[in-house]
Parts: sequence; C-alpha cells; structure tokens
Amino acid sequence: MAGIIFLKTRNKEKVREFYTKKINMTVWLEQKDCIVLKHGNLLLGFCARDEIDTQGIITFFYSTREEVDNMYDKLKEREKTELKENEKYQIYHFFAKDPENRVVEFQSFLHPVNSYLTGDELLITRRSIRYFEDRKVSDDTLWKLFEVSRYTPTSRNSQSYYFLAVSDKKKLEFLASVREKSSTPIVRAPLAVAICSNPSKSKRHIQDGCIAAYHFTLAAWNFGLGTCWIGGMDREDVKEALGIPQEHYVATVTPLGYPAEQPEPGSRRETKEIIQFIR
Ligand SMILES: Cc1cc2nc3c(=O)[nH]c(=O)nc-3n(C[C@H](O)[C@H](O)[C@H](O)COP(=O)(O)O)c2cc1C
Repeated sequence: MAGIIFLKTRNKEKVREFYTKKINMTVWLEQKDCIVLKHGNLLLGFCARDEIDTQGIITFFYSTREEVDNMYDKLKEREKTELKENEKYQIYHFFAKDPENRVVEFQSFLHPVNSYLTGDELLITRRSIRYFEDRKVSDDTLWKLFEVSRYTPTSRNSQSYYFLAVSDKKKLEFLASVREKSSTPIVRAPLAVAICSNPSKSKRHIQDGCIAAYHFTLAAWNFGLGTCWIGGMDREDVKEALGIPQEHYVATVTPLGYPAEQPEPGSRRETKEIIQFIR
C-alpha cells in the first residue's frame, strides 16, 4: 500500500525547483500537468491549476538533529521560525515557507519511531555502526524486530537459525574482548545479538545463519537501530560463554542499539564493475 497527496500549484516549475534543489526531493513521476516528488516515504504531487492549495503543513522528518540543522542552514535566506525543541510533541523543528506560501516543517523526533524507510533507502542507507547511544532498546521494539526477522529465507525453509539477545554486562565485556579492536563495538552497545544456526536442522545451516544475520541487520536499521557484523565469532570460547552447543554455527555476534554516529558510506565499486550479463 502506498499513497500520494496532490496539491494545486500555479507555478509548477518554481515549486519543482524549490523542492528538488533546496529539499533534495527527487522526481518520482512526471505526468502531463502534474509532477510527483519523493522524499523518503513521502510522495507529494503538484498539479498545475488556476488556484493554489496552501492548507495543512508539509513536514519533512530526519533521523538526526544535525540533519535538521543542515536544512536550517540551507534555507538561510528564507523566512523561518527559530530552531527549537517542542516538549508537547517531543520533536526538534522549525517552520519555513515554500515559494507559494505553503508551510513546510523540518523536524526530527526526540524518541524512537516505528519503521518508515522505503526499500531503496533501507538498502542504500544501512551502515555498520560501532558507537551507540546510552539508551535502552525497549522489549516492544525488540519483539517487533525479531518478529520481522522470521521472514529470512532458509534452505528448504528449515529455519535452522536462532537468536540470542545478550544484555549481561560481563558477557558483553567478554564478547567485546575476544577479537580485540574488531569486536570492541559490542561493549559500546546496550546489547548484543548472536545469530546462530543448528546443523541438525539443515545441511545448509551456515548459509541459513549468514542470511538470517543479514536479514536481521536490515530489519534493525528499519527500526532505527544500528548493528555491526563482527566476523570470526564462531569460536569455542564464545559458544561456551553463551551456552551454544559447539557443533552449532555462530554467523556473527552484533552489537545492537541506537546509533551515536552517522558514518559516511564507504567507497563502492561501480555497478558496471560488479555485473556481467551472460545472455
Ligand atoms: C563478514 C563480515 C565481517 C565483518 N567483521 C567485522 C569486524 O570484525 N569488526 C567490525 O568492526 N566490522 C566488521 N564488519 C563490517 C565491515 O567492516 C563493513 O560492513 C564494511 O566496512 C562496509 O561498511 P558498511 O557496512 O557501513 O557499508 C564485517 C562485515 C562483514 C560482512
């Protein structure tokens, strides 16, 4: 299910320029006299008419305050309200006007929100997170996360994987120490999740475990949570510490928590370098 809100405009090109250049919306669809713009999960249509729709507020929200600050700087020459925290709605925000006097708001929530990313955003924006806020992940969020994690593919639908959510401080310290610098991010998070698989349930339990782990990292990102795949955790001492049978596989033990950093994307090979068509 998806949707578009359409508004009337008397100056489609000016509106296009403002929303694409200033606010980084992308053109999702061009129609005869309408244009549909996209910003995350927001689809906003503008249709050329003799009147202008100016009612309501168009709100853009961001995952961090810094992004709201950046928008404030970017709109510096426009009339706008002060940047401030709003206690009632638990947001950090400011208002401005678009070229046709519509009210546009820029905000970030000061509390965790339910998932809202689109598929492409989820895949493109995911990062490995190694620093975390000192904030608990609620049981409600954890249950939602494990609920969607069940939809990972597995060989013959064997579902040979399982998760262990660890918040015991001593155990976190131990897990963080086993691979020194490589595993340190575990101790900076409120919890760690071991993603394991059971060979008695599938001949392909290693693949099942790895795919379940990646599925989990994406699901976590969708809830605004950061993870970091820590490699080399399929070890005797890790299994002993967590009570995992030695014959089981540990795909990874990832820290899990609200990101306290926003890493830039690492460099990626060009698309043409990673694909060969055999036709
Ligand atoms: C198999 C595998 C093992 C990894 N091992 C570690 C690790 O031990 N410690 C760590 O901090 N990051 C580890 N990473 C995270 C990578 O460094 C990271 O995915 C890569 O730099 C790309 O960055 P991105 O995930 O933010 O796109 C691992 C990733 C994978 C897929």
